[in-house]
Amino acid sequence: MCVYLDHNATTPIDERVFEAMLPYLNGSCYGNPSSAHRQGRESQQALQYAREQVAMLVGVQPRQVVFTSGGTEANNVALKGLMAVADIGSALVVGATEHSSVLEPANVLQHAGYPLTFAGVEGDGVVSPAEFERALAEHQTALASVMLANNETGVVQDVVQLSEIARRRGVMMHTDAVQALGKMNVDFDALGVSAMSLSAHKIAGPKGVGALVMAKGLMLQPMMHGGGQEAGLRGGTENLAGIIGFGAAAALMQHGLTQRVEHYEQLRERVEQALQCIDGVVVFSQQARRLPNTIFFAVKGIEGSTLLMNLDRDGIAVSSGSACASGSGEPSHVLQAMGVDDSLAYGAVRVSFGNGNTMKDVERLISSLQQQIESLLKLNSGWT
Ligand SMILES: Cc1ncc(COP(=O)(O)O)c(C=O)c1O
Repeated sequence: MCVYLDHNATTPIDERVFEAMLPYLNGSCYGNPSSAHRQGRESQQALQYAREQVAMLVGVQPRQVVFTSGGTEANNVALKGLMAVADIGSALVVGATEHSSVLEPANVLQHAGYPLTFAGVEGDGVVSPAEFERALAEHQTALASVMLANNETGVVQDVVQLSEIARRRGVMMHTDAVQALGKMNVDFDALGVSAMSLSAHKIAGPKGVGALVMAKGLMLQPMMHGGGQEAGLRGGTENLAGIIGFGAAAALMQHGLTQRVEHYEQLRERVEQALQCIDGVVVFSQQARRLPNTIFFAVKGIEGSTLLMNLDRDGIAVSSGSACASGSGEPSHVLQAMGVDDSLAYGAVRVSFGNGNTMKDVERLISSLQQQIESLLKLNSGWT
């Protein structure tokens, strides 16, 4: 049996989510939600129900939820769509450790003439309020985007405080809450942001569906123009099965957060305790507030990608850096922003727990890690 410990990359669909989606895939329910006939109205009702489920999980009104094709689209539309309605010459601030789906549109905007400033992070991966203020003040900033939780380190930013600073300066604030959802309380109003990105496949929902949650009355330029779906903010016939799945996954996440957090914390503590006994191990951001399911570490002298492949041979799935970045051959930009030496950053491995992981899984991980690290270190020092 394989042990899957890469839930920050993606999660398996929950069986109950699959059951909810099935009628929308097998031809039982097929109406276009925009059609006026009975089949269309039924689909429209199901769509609205899913919208209510997602809205409820983050404490907003259903009409504040705009469905997208995932977290990447939500981040793109937040940045490009909000900057498009800002005053000419306005600038953008993004965190240095954001996901590529924020960094890349930010770069595109910069090339289109919008000044871009990065808010740097401390050595533990946290954006300090002082650094955020500095970044906002560099230009006439219209929009800032700082993620709620980092996909690699699991570091949770103090978005409440940062959005308060942004508000005082009249700056709109967006947060990427893709990794935070389901692993900590995500309350849109309490965060004080104007817009927030979500994705279904990180919470046992299907891939290819997500949402942008928007403050009431917020204006943005749609990226997808078409038939006026999603209140004109995202044209195109809806991915109904995906959206129904997202709603069902959100409804499941509504319950048991405290137990999930406690369980992940126990698993994490056990792994980190074992890692401490191995020479040359560094756990990144260990002192910062982190998602309870995430451990990002490196072993001096061992390549993360080699350790990943050896664990994979033992039937254990982890990640080296972010799933999207791994394979690029570059050290993680998150660790670089934290000032971690490249030689250590190349060794980074991420373990991320999810539904169904047990202490037994963790013990298998630990024993495999101990063996693999020992043999790789021996190999590197020319013992064999
Ligand atoms: C923090 C963060 N934002 C955005 C995304 C992109 O979401 P999606 O895969 O739904 O496009 C990811 C996916 O890994 C992520 O971790």
